[in-house]
Amino acid sequence: MAKKVKTEYICTDCGARFPRWTGKCGECQAWNTLEERLVQNHKNTLVAAQEWQHADPVDLLRLEDISYQEQDRLPTGLGELDRALGGGMVPGSLILLGGEPGIGKSTLLLQSAYYMAERLNHSVIYVSGEESAQQIKSRAQRLGFTHSEHFRLLAETEMQTILALLEQEKPQVVIFDSIQSVYDGRLANAPGSISQVKNTCNLVMKLAKQKGISAWIIGHVNKDGDIAGPKVLEHMVDTVLYFEGERYRSFRLLRTIKNRFGATHEVGVFDMTGVGLEEVSNPSSLFLAEYDGESSGSAIVPTLEGTRPLLVEIQALTYSSYANFPKRSANGVSYQRLNQIVAVLEKRVGLNFSKFDVLVNVVSGIGIEEPAADLGMAMALVSSFRNVALNPHTLYMGEIGLGGEIRSINQIERRLSEGFKLGFKRAVVPERSLPLKESFAGMEIIGVKNMIQALKTIPAEKTTTETAL
Ligand code: TYD
Ligand code: MG
Repeated sequence: MAKKVKTEYICTDCGARFPRWTGKCGECQAWNTLEERLVQNHKNTLVAAQEWQHADPVDLLRLEDISYQEQDRLPTGLGELDRALGGGMVPGSLILLGGEPGIGKSTLLLQSAYYMAERLNHSVIYVSGEESAQQIKSRAQRLGFTHSEHFRLLAETEMQTILALLEQEKPQVVIFDSIQSVYDGRLANAPGSISQVKNTCNLVMKLAKQKGISAWIIGHVNKDGDIAGPKVLEHMVDTVLYFEGERYRSFRLLRTIKNRFGATHEVGVFDMTGVGLEEVSNPSSLFLAEYDGESSGSAIVPTLEGTRPLLVEIQALTYSSYANFPKRSANGVSYQRLNQIVAVLEKRVGLNFSKFDVLVNVVSGIGIEEPAADLGMAMALVSSFRNVALNPHTLYMGEIGLGGEIRSINQIERRLSEGFKLGFKRAVVPERSLPLKESFAGMEIIGVKNMIQALKTIPAEKTTTETAL
């Protein structure tokens, strides 16, 4: 009887193996990439397993045997970018800058590259695979950049050619714009495919570590928010930054998602102007620029982005519903959180939203994830429901539990001082934070235990539609 030949299926994009053929790779989700191959001979595997007996010996290390010095960081020429990186670039590190097309990634790194070269005398090479040298020149002209000895451009896409040049030039900083546009000529896959992107990232990583070059790679985020597939690059690089913003608004947030050399969840803020990105050192005042405090349904919340407090306005609108199921819509806060707060207001305070549609929006387009914004959201909802404006100089902060209790939150002093700086005179906080009172002499701090107490802070003369309660 003929011996049965055993086969398996290998994804040509990511190398994952499967016992059966499927149209879509279970690992990288690419379609039609599985190829049938012979399963490795069992005998070969046994031989391979015993080969360690002939391997070269290696040494174990104790901590004291390892020489290491905290290296000086290279400033990027932009304070907000340094902040997001935790104080500048670490030599030999690899940083990924992700973001949607058109958000301003090339502008950000071109500005940083030019400032580094011009003001700090770092040698910088900007590898542009996406745009021609003329396009970069036109952007540089728009930004007012003329000449810098240390800033040079390389319009090339083949990795081996690029690496040979970088090895020869040994710049301090190299920028790849973008990882999807460069390719390794030795691989058959198209530029931007997962295996090309992974391979390029590996090559840049090796170069950075061996030569002590700080390397940036720009990566476009696709519709699902992934960089060239399912998070393939994030675990390979040292630092991951995302550049975000709304298409119709000019400010941009630079968030730190991962940082082997510093804190995560840091945020840098920029404003995209006609002549490049401007740093915003006081973002709260930018976000509150159009806040008048006179209309109902609006509350100011100090939220924390990393270590940075930001004051944002939460707006709510409740209005008669004509549908069987009233609508709940949340923009900038989580939909579940909104439902939870509406449920608490109904059960613990007695407000009946069942005949009302509810909209909540965080002005400025910032997404708030932390529960410390619960109280602000609830106050905005009640304010709209009762059609009464809240006191314009009041901050609200606290997490709301299902029992209607206001739970304590972290870093309350940071939040209060940001509010104080911007002229807020009053803050409604969880009662457990009351000992803070003395440290904020200029501000009236009101501790509340539950939602009922929080609602009592709405000025009496203004609560003309109290019957709604
Ligand atoms: P860009 O840096 O090319 O984005 P990305 O590299 O993330 O794709 O920025 C593109 C947008 O920014 C484009 O719509 C024009 C705008 N922009 C300005 O508003 N001001 C400027 O000074 C520059 C250079 C660009
Ligand atoms: Mg670009």
